[in-house]
Amino acid sequence: MRTTWSFHTATRLTFGPGAVDQLGEILAARAIERLVILTDQNLVAAGVAERVRASIEAAGVAVETFSDGEAEPSVPCALEAIDCAGRFEPQAVLGLGGGSNMDLAKITAAVLAHGGSPSDYFGFDRIPGPVLPVISVPTTAGTGSEVSHSAVLTDTERQLKVSTLSNYLRPSIALVDPELTDTCPRQVRADAGIDALVHAIEAYTAVDYHALELPPGEKSAYEGRFPLGECLAEKAIELIGRHLVAAVNDEGHREARDGMALAATLAGMAFSNCGVALVHALEYPIGGALHCSHGAGNGLLLPYVMRFNLPVRQRAFARIAALLGEDVNGLSEAEAAERAIEAVRRIRRQIGIPERLRDIGATPIQIPLFAEKSYGIARLRWVNPRPATNQDLRDILKSAF
Ligand SMILES: [Fe+2]
Repeated sequence: MRTTWSFHTATRLTFGPGAVDQLGEILAARAIERLVILTDQNLVAAGVAERVRASIEAAGVAVETFSDGEAEPSVPCALEAIDCAGRFEPQAVLGLGGGSNMDLAKITAAVLAHGGSPSDYFGFDRIPGPVLPVISVPTTAGTGSEVSHSAVLTDTERQLKVSTLSNYLRPSIALVDPELTDTCPRQVRADAGIDALVHAIEAYTAVDYHALELPPGEKSAYEGRFPLGECLAEKAIELIGRHLVAAVNDEGHREARDGMALAATLAGMAFSNCGVALVHALEYPIGGALHCSHGAGNGLLLPYVMRFNLPVRQRAFARIAALLGEDVNGLSEAEAAERAIEAVRRIRRQIGIPERLRDIGATPIQIPLFAEKSYGIARLRWVNPRPATNQDLRDILKSAF
């Protein structure tokens, strides 16, 4: 039985409205003189890329911008980014955007430091040493990539999202400026926000760190649930319960947006240490095949996976219900735990997340294949609090159909 746990996050986190204006002095303090920004056309059109670039150039740092990042980036997109960045010979890589661009920056930093191609590093702990410093500047509140050790690409040939995980991928600097989320479209805000809720709930209900069992010779990318991770997840769930619906539906609600930016980062700290589990395992093949966003797929699946885990996480679910704003006074623990699933369904409905797999184009014939591919993602399965067989995964997907 394990008796210890470890916690990792970004080396520096600077948080708050206007934080982006500090970028120049942060880079100067680290003697970074050449920097590449990885972003996308939407952020160029919205003027966000220019705002970040101006803040950096004001400090005398030479900047190159790659602006062809894409949602759920493919391996060819990553190769293009690496090629563009490599020609500029930067000292650091800045990912500006949602998880997609921030993940692209991590992969680019790894390949520029160690050569080869992205697929050489797929999986856990295959990056041999430190990568170029990564600076993450999120423009959505959700993925937690600004503090996490993972980068996800889409393998279009195998129709699967593939993760690269390594503590070397943790950003050197996470700069979270909630004002940068102001241009984020409504549905992206919803999808990213529900992803943060999934992160927090999967971390909060993960297998306990001392009970995480691995096959002989295997290493885990995650620790399982431990006290510091629980604190962070709990605070994230509370903030999401208070702010997500308003941040999505209430145009210009500053307090809600600031709250969601903090929640997403806290959830990122929690899940990238404790772990994510079956929701993410099931979403990877579904997102890869049906091209729904990561957040929408996760949000769709969350209540069904919660139903599966409920028997072994009743107390945690009862607490989640209260954190999400349900009135659980006078309820038994079992009744309160049920309310957690109801609360998630309510939030999902209020922000327009699809509720059934058939709503996003799935067909019944795909279920066994989705289950099999999910089952193959062992590192996520190990973290789930209740062991799941291939048949269990099929049953969860049938209930979600
Ligand atoms: Fe996620």
